[in-house]
Amino acid sequence: MAGAGVAEAQHVTIDRVWPDPADDLDDEALVEALREAGEVLRVNFVSSVDGAATRDGLSGGLGDAADRRYFELLRRVADVVVVGAGTVRAEGYGPLRVSDASAAWREAHGLPPHPVFAIVSGRLDLDPASRIFTEAPVRPIVVTTPGRDVAAFADAADVIVCGAGDRVDADAAVGALRARGLARILSEGGPTMFGALLAADLVDELCVTVSPALEAGDARRIAAGELPEPRALELAHVLRSGSTLLLRYRRLTAG
Ligand SMILES: NC(=O)c1ccc[n+]([C@@H]2O[C@H](COP(=O)([O-])OP(=O)(O)OC[C@H]3O[C@@H](n4cnc5c(N)ncnc54)[C@H](OP(=O)(O)O)[C@@H]3O)[C@@H](O)[C@H]2O)c1
Repeated sequence: MAGAGVAEAQHVTIDRVWPDPADDLDDEALVEALREAGEVLRVNFVSSVDGAATRDGLSGGLGDAADRRYFELLRRVADVVVVGAGTVRAEGYGPLRVSDASAAWREAHGLPPHPVFAIVSGRLDLDPASRIFTEAPVRPIVVTTPGRDVAAFADAADVIVCGAGDRVDADAAVGALRARGLARILSEGGPTMFGALLAADLVDELCVTVSPALEAGDARRIAAGELPEPRALELAHVLRSGSTLLLRYRRLTAG
């Protein structure tokens, strides 16, 4: 994950199954559908058919070339990519940098070449000297709770402080991102953060790659935590690459 294998991924075929079946969609067709949403909070995950969000503790083993191609296109259209600190630590995220093709597309569409990288850590358990910050093409944002040593991040990142105890207030955090003009928000997880966004009813879209594998075991699911009641979704599209499905769901609209 995290941008790996993008060059290889550009050559994999992705077809649209529903609506309007079409073979071998180019990047422009895939991106156009993602741009329709305008202001959006979109979440992206990969899952095995039996609901595992990880293999050997990481998502990368579940994703194939189609997942990596789509992962990059989701970043291409985002103003900000938000990731929980658990995923940053587990997946070993480096600085967030899109491919040259994505950067060129963004500049041609009046966007900065790279989206902003926002990392959510209630405990501020992040290293301001890590490559995420020192090699960032755009100054990242750290979202944390009151009372943390934010001075240590003065040179590394902008800091948004909200919430209480160890819990960031998801509503306030998203509001603060939007107040900076970051309208298209992409969350790359993980399950704890997705759960917090769901509980605050902030999720407009869910992209989930269904990896054609059965994992069994006790791997995480894509969402953690509690919801007052199940959240119904509406299907936006079904893409297919070989035996891999790339599903996009959105918030169920009334009527
Ligand atoms: N299948 C996929 O597509 C996919 C995608 C992403 C991740 N994953 C997997 O998920 C696993 C990580 O799961 P995770 O649940 O730990 O991921 P996570 O949500 O990225 O990380 C949880 C951590 O993020 C911070 N955080 C998230 N929401 C917060 C909130 N509302 N308030 C305050 N802090 C918040 C906290 O950091 P602090 O502890 O620093 O306070 C928390 O401990 C890894 O194995 C990763 O590979 C899979």
